[in-house]
Amino acid sequence: MSEEDADSERDAVAAVVEAARDRLDPDEEEREQLRTVAERLLERAETAARERCDGADATLVGSSARGTWISGDRDIDVFVRFPSDVDRETLEEYGLAVGHETLPDGHEEYAEHPYVKGECEGFDVDVVPCFRLDSATEIRSAVDRTPFHDRYLRERLDDDLAADVRLTKGFLKGIGVYGSDLKTRGFSGYLTELLVVEYGGFLPLLEAAAEWQPPVELDPEDHAPADQSFDDPLVVVDPTDPERNVAAVCSAANVARLQHYARAFLDEPSLEYFEPREPNPLSESELREHLERRKTTPVAVRFDAPDLVEDQLYPQLYKSLSGITQGLDDRGFDVFRGTTFADDTAVIFAELAVAERPAVERHRGPPVHVQGHAKGFYETYADDPDAYGPFVEGNRYIAERTREFTTARDFLASDRLFDVGLGAHVETALEDGYEVLVGDEVTALCGEFGPKLRRYFEPRP
Ligand code: CTP
Ligand code: MG
Repeated sequence: MSEEDADSERDAVAAVVEAARDRLDPDEEEREQLRTVAERLLERAETAARERCDGADATLVGSSARGTWISGDRDIDVFVRFPSDVDRETLEEYGLAVGHETLPDGHEEYAEHPYVKGECEGFDVDVVPCFRLDSATEIRSAVDRTPFHDRYLRERLDDDLAADVRLTKGFLKGIGVYGSDLKTRGFSGYLTELLVVEYGGFLPLLEAAAEWQPPVELDPEDHAPADQSFDDPLVVVDPTDPERNVAAVCSAANVARLQHYARAFLDEPSLEYFEPREPNPLSESELREHLERRKTTPVAVRFDAPDLVEDQLYPQLYKSLSGITQGLDDRGFDVFRGTTFADDTAVIFAELAVAERPAVERHRGPPVHVQGHAKGFYETYADDPDAYGPFVEGNRYIAERTREFTTARDFLASDRLFDVGLGAHVETALEDGYEVLVGDEVTALCGEFGPKLRRYFEPRP
């Protein structure tokens, strides 16, 4: 590449980055608004905490504490710290009381321990109790780490890096990999900030990611024990806790997605990478066209979505998808691709390359010379009036017996569906009843899941 080409490529990237910053950076008014609300909440929380316990305090954590939130985000995390000699039960009791006093309309939620969530002037607020500890390695629950994370990042983020964190969050959201919730299994806020600090900015991070050869291991404080080994595609050893991989929930697919889009963006920068897009719903006729072209057979198991928070629901749906896929494959119904969606109803969706099988199936016995087994096999099938054989092929007995299910629908509609690995609440929901859709019948899903079906039939990285 000539020097001029290189210059103009850099200019193109810089122009897009500037435009993205414009959209992502909250303006002074928005920042002021957050500051005012946060201050009021902190004061209320601290007063309520001190009334109950000497030495308690309240602190702002997360992106709103560090200026790393992006415009439009309305999320304030208040941590209420209690001295570490308070026992856990008392901490929970005080924590909830302080939460309710801070957020009169709030409700209780349970992460690792209970906290109060509510709304204040349009902001989503969490008031979370934790212990005040000297070191993050003494933590008693995951939330106790948060103040250490906050301190670590504050010491390292200047205005430029904070601006690059916002840019990176915007990019990760745009390409659909932001969030450490168990539906997304992507990059958490803390992980994003560590990566930006480690690589020194948004563009250096993208340049590095484009070249990653997973497993990638970063240890900013260089303190992981020598015998520590994480089995994850991306490892970022927590600077506040050498035993923990901050990127533990980040899936291999999301690491690969970041690599793909980093490359794509550097090749041809565009604002579109910063724009999360919910696809238009796929219409019934479009779905039929795809099926006509692909000549696959879609099947769907649809049931009432269990009433669970997403972090509990999605792992169960993913487990059920893999169980049902395995169940289909084992019975000769070859799964081409599958997915799961949930809203009011939940769906396990599989597209089959083979949806029908003949009435008989081959059953391979032991080699004839393996005496005991071979004799047992021979006698079982010789006496079975429905079986062909046994006969010999190579050195083995083979029997052809009646297949239990000749269509995927029969299997899915049968009780044998409950033999596969299912999430516990999914299993209960299926026991209450479910619908099996095959072929064209899946067009019934377009109403509730049109955008998800477009994503499925028009896949992209
Ligand atoms: N946190 C927590 N329990 C909560 C809410 C937050 O432990 N109920 C902790 C998280 O682990 C994180 C910090 O508080 O360390 C902030 O959480 P979150 O809002 O998810 O991340 P941010 O860094 O603020 O990123 P974002 O910009 O996406 O809000
Ligand atoms: Mg936050």
